[in-house]
Amino acid sequence: MTELGTALITGASFGIGQELARVFAREGHNLVLVARSADRLRQLASELEKAHGTRSLILASDLTEPGSAAYVLDQTTRAEIAVDVLVNNAGFGQFGFFAENDLEVCLQQIQLNVTTLTHLTRLFVPGMIERRHGRILNVASTAAFQAGPLMAVYYATKAYVLLFSEAIANELQGTGVTVTCLCPGPTATEFQKRANLAGIRLLKYGSMDARTVAEDGYRALMAGKPVVISGFKNWLVAQSIRFAPRRMATAVARKLQEQ
Ligand SMILES: NC(=O)c1ccc[n+]([C@@H]2O[C@H](COP(=O)([O-])OP(=O)(O)OC[C@H]3O[C@@H](n4cnc5c(N)ncnc54)[C@H](OP(=O)(O)O)[C@@H]3O)[C@@H](O)[C@H]2O)c1
Repeated sequence: MTELGTALITGASFGIGQELARVFAREGHNLVLVARSADRLRQLASELEKAHGTRSLILASDLTEPGSAAYVLDQTTRAEIAVDVLVNNAGFGQFGFFAENDLEVCLQQIQLNVTTLTHLTRLFVPGMIERRHGRILNVASTAAFQAGPLMAVYYATKAYVLLFSEAIANELQGTGVTVTCLCPGPTATEFQKRANLAGIRLLKYGSMDARTVAEDGYRALMAGKPVVISGFKNWLVAQSIRFAPRRMATAVARKLQEQ
């Protein structure tokens, strides 16, 4: 066990979250694994126990439910687990024109990517401040750096995650709690299939693997960096957007999102 103890990871059943769980376990953390797919979480917990002796608490929860963040805090409190690292990774996207997309799915995206992330952070951060140590890893995206036509709500939720994370990282200076925002670019996970992104131009430029993204996130978290963009190509694109007129950046994002 490291001095940082237990890491709670949302969206640990697939993709980047699952790889983050493997990295945290390898580094000696015990885990609280949260997602809807209980079977996959149980499988992962058993794999990590065999490989590293990791102890995991499994919480099967739909984090689009408004009461889910409180449920997660309640379950960790009952299990007498102090969460030293909070990883807000669960998230999903929805492809299509905003005016035509299913409203319920739009709102669930905001609930998961923004509201539950904020709620969990607000519930767990006071304990970290009290203990004078803690780390928070919020997973945004390179989508955070510009508007995203054809995924308007998703890009906007990720802009929120980035700006929220940077702001609280600043507020928490001197408390012993650090906040890191991980911004992956396209990554080979379930995300693209679930968001119906097959055939969009952006994916023709290749995807990173989830393990590399997870390793980048873990390293930046441990270094206390406020923001990390995974992959040099993604970093370069995010930097170039800073100097482009906003309307042009939006138009380019539209081209990349088209099928
Ligand atoms: N893949 C990419 O290209 C990419 C790029 C940039 C950023 N990201 C971000 O990276 C994060 C992880 O995504 P990923 O690529 O690893 O996608 P993924 O393979 O689809 O995994 C998403 C994870 O979130 C969980 N999740 C989804 N809806 C949930 C809900 N209602 N309640 C609880 N858990 C839920 C899923 O578990 P269950 O289905 O079992 O609930 C799964 O474990 C997301 O925030 C995503 O926006 C991804």
